[in-house]
Amino acid sequence: MLKPPIFMITPGTIDEIKNRMDVVEVVSDFVQLKKSGSNYKALSPFTQEKTPSFFVSPSKQIYKCFSTGKGGDAISFIMEVDGLSYVEALKYLAKKYNVEIEEEQTSDEDQQRYNERESLFIILNFAKDYYRDLLWENEDGKAIGLSYFKERGFTDETIKAFDLGYSLDTWDGLIKATKEKQYNEELLEKAGLKIVKEDRSYDRFRGRVIFPIHNVTGKVIAFGARILKKAENQPKYINSPETELYQKSKILYGISQAKQEIRIADNCYLVEGYTDVISMYQNGVKNVVASSGTSLTEDQIKLISRYTSNVTVLFDGDKAGIKASLRGIDMLLAGDLNVKAVSFPEGEDPDSYARQLSTSAFQNYLKDEAVDFIVFKANLLVGDAKHDPVKKAETIRDIVTSITKIPDPIKRTVYIKECSDLLDIDESVLVTEQNKILVREQRNAQFKDQQAAEQNVLPVPEEKITSGKVPLDDAIAVQERECIRMLLNYADQQVKDEEDNDELFVSYFLHELEDVEFETPIYQEILTHFVDHLKEGRLVDQQTLLSESSAEAQKSIIDILADRYEISSWWHDKYKIIVPKESDRLKQSAFTSVLRLKFRLVQKMIKANMDKLTENSAEKNEEEILRMHNELKKLEISIASELGNVTAR
Ligand code: CTP
Ligand code: MN
Repeated sequence: MLKPPIFMITPGTIDEIKNRMDVVEVVSDFVQLKKSGSNYKALSPFTQEKTPSFFVSPSKQIYKCFSTGKGGDAISFIMEVDGLSYVEALKYLAKKYNVEIEEEQTSDEDQQRYNERESLFIILNFAKDYYRDLLWENEDGKAIGLSYFKERGFTDETIKAFDLGYSLDTWDGLIKATKEKQYNEELLEKAGLKIVKEDRSYDRFRGRVIFPIHNVTGKVIAFGARILKKAENQPKYINSPETELYQKSKILYGISQAKQEIRIADNCYLVEGYTDVISMYQNGVKNVVASSGTSLTEDQIKLISRYTSNVTVLFDGDKAGIKASLRGIDMLLAGDLNVKAVSFPEGEDPDSYARQLSTSAFQNYLKDEAVDFIVFKANLLVGDAKHDPVKKAETIRDIVTSITKIPDPIKRTVYIKECSDLLDIDESVLVTEQNKILVREQRNAQFKDQQAAEQNVLPVPEEKITSGKVPLDDAIAVQERECIRMLLNYADQQVKDEEDNDELFVSYFLHELEDVEFETPIYQEILTHFVDHLKEGRLVDQQTLLSESSAEAQKSIIDILADRYEISSWWHDKYKIIVPKESDRLKQSAFTSVLRLKFRLVQKMIKANMDKLTENSAEKNEEEILRMHNELKKLEISIASELGNVTAR
């Protein structure tokens, strides 16, 4: 394959991006943040959870997810949440903050490292351009493809906005075009564009109109292709297979165009097909995405809830179809989304109706017809069950199941009331039914919570130490980390010295640590930073420290910064355990930390000293070793008793 010249983003540009980016702004594009003290919190975008364990700290410019353990700055957040590479994430942020990207050409070695992902994006983008050009420029493309879209009422502008295209009715149109460009043929297959059968290979999409599928950031990752003539044994749509870039269950058609509109409208319209999205878009309703004919997945729901907590599901006017998709809607409820439903007259779908009505009439229809989903479901099912008691019981259970999916208990109560009227059933019957389901689910949930807690939340440093199972070196590293954490968090705070004068915490603390050298190189590196700056008479703030540190130290700093306070407040929110604020007793905490560290260091010295006793060495002086042992033991005891005094206070 002809390798396109590879460029690397210059360090200057990266700095500029880092200067402008704000983690709260970046994260808010994906989750709804709520202020919590000096931080923000939200439901984690990485897991399904009911209690927020995802925190963003504006002052530290980091995020931390306690459910998954993920954490970092705005760049790593984008990488994580959108599955982007570092470069892709930088480009995303550059776009968001209007930073012009400067690039420089890279070495051969770098070129080789140019990964498959990037190549797949390139080849998919090439295919998109190829199909688009055929639609607008090729005779068949214009006569067959373009006129088909026109017949469906799509304007030029709309066709362009969705990158629509046409594939020739030949076996190898795309294969030839990519060969000409010297693209790697294997890549074409990996991109899902070529089918290889026995020793024959041919284009996947032939003689069809093309609907490119874009990821959240607007890059083409797959295609859907619709047949034009009525052919007996041919599916209406052929879609790209799952590839490294395209996982059907994780994407919604139209999301890149709709996301901004969804956020603005604070509502997302959910439809079935490509053409529904396009027609609605053309008729002025742009906050719309499609599940592409399959039932909704958790990942797709997560995707929607990055932008809004309100979803309006649009159903075709076909009752059997509606019933088939009801279950998927329960998942929306479980995702803590507010769900409404709109149905269309018999024989109509969002696409046909959007074309039929004027923009304002269509918009009004959507507004006026939107019914709360639970009510919608109850009305739908209750009609059938009116004169059939068995069916009625089934219906009740079905609806109460939907209600039970809603995480918010207050909302559930309101729905129970409403449905009691609607179904003409005593409220207590519904409540009993609900409780049965809730108890069953609670049991499952508790089990899961417990597992999650054991895996992700409990390893708080102190826990490890008191368990006594941690080897000494780990215990020392834990205490060193703790010292760094205090420095990072409180360096600039004022404490009182012996004479009751104000003193900076950093100088007090470094004084306490004067005779200590950290054993963990990365912590020593950070400590040295503080010491050096203090010597120069200036105080480092977290941002400066981060920017001046090695990549490894940065990672460590971010990790530490994310740590403790949030854990406390998380525990408090979840289990109502009160954790005293450590800044209130700063000096004592610092003193304890240093003591703990010294305690472990002395223990290590004791062990090293005793090891000498068992060594087979000629010049070992047993007397000296034992004398030393006694000294160290005395020291250990005195530190321990001092520790006991402070911690008991
Ligand atoms: N679909 C598919 N494969 C099929 C049929 C449908 O992938 N054989 C998906 C497509 O994403 C399609 C959606 O299911 O957009 C809805 O199907 P349908 O309503 O049949 O298609 P429309 O998009 O409405 O297309 P048209 O209006 O042209 O019939
Ligand atoms: Mn349709």
